Amino acid sequence: SKARIGLVGLGVMGANLALNIAENGFPIAVYNRTTSHTDDFMADAGALADQLTPCHEVETLCASLTTPRAIIIMVQAGAPVDSVIDSLKPYLEKGDMIIDAGNANFHDTRRREAALKEEGLNFIGMGVSGGEEGARHGPAIMVGGDPASFEVIRDIIEAISAKYQDSPCADHLGTDGAGHFVKTVHNGIEYADMQMIAEVYGILRDMDGRSAGDIGKLFEEWNAGPLASYLVEISAHVLQASDPISGGPMVDMIVDKAGQKGTGRWTAIEALTLGESPMTIEAAVGARGWSAAKEAREAGEKIYAGLEVQGGAHAILDADLEQALLAAKIIAYSQGFALLDAASKEYDWNLDLGRCAEVWRAGCIIRSSMLDEMASAARAGLPNGQLIFADGFAEKMKDASGALRRVVAAAALKGQPMPAFSAALAFFDTMRKGRGTTDLVQAQRDFFGAHGFDRVDGKDHHHGPWGSGLKSF
Ligand code: 6PG
Repeated sequence: SKARIGLVGLGVMGANLALNIAENGFPIAVYNRTTSHTDDFMADAGALADQLTPCHEVETLCASLTTPRAIIIMVQAGAPVDSVIDSLKPYLEKGDMIIDAGNANFHDTRRREAALKEEGLNFIGMGVSGGEEGARHGPAIMVGGDPASFEVIRDIIEAISAKYQDSPCADHLGTDGAGHFVKTVHNGIEYADMQMIAEVYGILRDMDGRSAGDIGKLFEEWNAGPLASYLVEISAHVLQASDPISGGPMVDMIVDKAGQKGTGRWTAIEALTLGESPMTIEAAVGARGWSAAKEAREAGEKIYAGLEVQGGAHAILDADLEQALLAAKIIAYSQGFALLDAASKEYDWNLDLGRCAEVWRAGCIIRSSMLDEMASAARAGLPNGQLIFADGFAEKMKDASGALRRVVAAAALKGQPMPAFSAALAFFDTMRKGRGTTDLVQAQRDFFGAHGFDRVDGKDHHHGPWGSGLKSF
């Protein structure tokens, strides 16, 4: 008998996704370019092997599937996806579908979808979050592409996904690249959330002199409150782990240079292209970049030693840090939702922000106890496009923003860098000031470029009486 679905790419994520599909009772055919890998995978599959059809050729894979065919690709994003698509095409028929489950750039997904459509093939861009564990036991799944094609595989995708209460954390969110875009923004928020937690860790370690283990215990307490989330929980966990070699905290032995594969950076790039500035996410991407310049930082530590303001800064209370993290996190989500909305308009996706947030409630890396409330707020419509103005969240911001302010101020006096927190506060204060300072920027632009400006009284006079005669420069 034939398999319902196929999968190409038995790396960590692909192998776990295949086992998840098999365990949910869907017969699946699998293929990996290195055939010995397929054999090893089958040897480890145990009882699930019954549901799995190993294939050593792409042709056999395609011949093993019921039609219309549905084939998941789980390979490294970029050129490898195109080469897998090319290798499959000769064995596919009109109406078949290819599903890219990797972390693709959504522009690539849009290009691939359009090109395959011309050949009568359907292409689904599917963002999958939750790491290895999620792939095996229930990830969050963000789907983009032709909605009718998704209906063909909906039962499988919902079955393998994480569940929030009984609701599957998987859905079709929009056409072409919508799923991969939502996954990209998910990752941008993930970057911001991780960076903010790390900034709090920095204050506790560098200003308070606390041990990693103590900080881990504090995070564990926070994980029982409003900050309850996967990322706070794993941070509590890793901070309390010991290095098997030195016996000290594991984190103390880890080089402070962070890697990145691209999704956070893409979030910032796409945002800027759309005229959005999710500065918490940009700061998190930037902080990873700065972290890589370790030698420069070490040199800077010598050149600029001792510039902290002595005295003056009050001690930061744990409760303030907790509230500040809450406020900064709400701001990061506010920026993420605003970006989703801007992209939805630009690409005609008609994204349901409430549904996006619902899909994030379980299985994914940014899952947290706040997401259900965020989903309700998004569903009700975000005032002026911002979560920080929504009922419930505005109250939380009023309660917590003082703590954010105290933390950023104290850190600044003591020379403790908080790029994401500072960006969050700058955004918040900008958004609660009806009259900003770009009147001067507009005047400057008009001075040197005759760009013109609008007047506050609406009168029809759009250039300043600048004259000439500068004294210098
Ligand atoms: C997830 C993760 C996962 C991965 C990303 C980000 O949602 O399961 O986001 O996709 O961690 O690739 O990785 P980098 O930090 O390496 O960019």
